[in-house]
Amino acid sequence: MVDRNEFRIRTATVADAQSIVDAFDSTLPYLASIGSEGQWGLVPFSERPGFLDDTIKSLEQSKVWQETGEGDSNLIFAAEVTGPESTAVPAGFAQIHEDKFSGYLYKQANIQAVDLTKLSNFVFLEVLLVHFGSGHHKGAGAALIQQVKRYGLEKGMDAIYVDCWAGNNRQLVGYYKRQGFVAVEDFTFPRENKAPWIGTFLRMDLTKT
Ligand SMILES: CC(C)(COP(=O)(O)OP(=O)(O)OC[C@H]1O[C@@H](n2cnc3c(N)ncnc32)[C@H](O)[C@@H]1OP(=O)(O)O)[C@@H](O)C(=O)NCCC(=O)NCCS
Repeated sequence: MVDRNEFRIRTATVADAQSIVDAFDSTLPYLASIGSEGQWGLVPFSERPGFLDDTIKSLEQSKVWQETGEGDSNLIFAAEVTGPESTAVPAGFAQIHEDKFSGYLYKQANIQAVDLTKLSNFVFLEVLLVHFGSGHHKGAGAALIQQVKRYGLEKGMDAIYVDCWAGNNRQLVGYYKRQGFVAVEDFTFPRENKAPWIGTFLRMDLTKT
């Protein structure tokens, strides 16, 4: 798969686990530089206990689901470009699930516009991020969203859902709207000993595409 920006999109494997953690780490200085450190905090993901192990487990589970259809419908796409001496350089990652949201959204009493438990035939974009250290990140996120859209259409899905941080003047909400999502509802996620995390839940309709 090669998209118009020359990112190749493939399914990630366990071999990508460290690159995924590196990509997460690479977002933090960027987020701080634009005043969005409230989104994911300042502690490098590589220093968060269990983060690499959980990433490996998720990729292992994804393999099981792809091969057998068993367990969580978990898939991670990698966008990569060709680097020096024809090496593949990972530029971004997107994690999706079918017909399943993150647990905190189901607990989210503030979302009134839609009963999440009654939704089906959708793709949930749980994670989208680029690797700012790759030198080739610009546009990788948009290319991955296009891949998620292609995936959803191929599977006959009705919609893609995503939720994102709504702080710092809703810049990220604006990004998703530019990518074709429509805001459904804002929510707040209470946290222990911290200010609530404020988010927006968005939807992209695939039925009219
Ligand atoms: C969001 C993201 C995946 C978009 O990747 P992309 O499609 O390649 O987008 P671009 O690099 O073209 O950037 C698009 C614009 O979005 C804005 N933007 C990106 N992430 C943002 C964030 N977290 N908060 C606010 N604005 C953000 C930037 O203003 C950027 O504008 P610029 O062109 O002036 O730099 C990528 O910027 C990223 O990984 N951001 C950090 C992690 C993140 O926020 N992921 C989304 C989690 S829900």
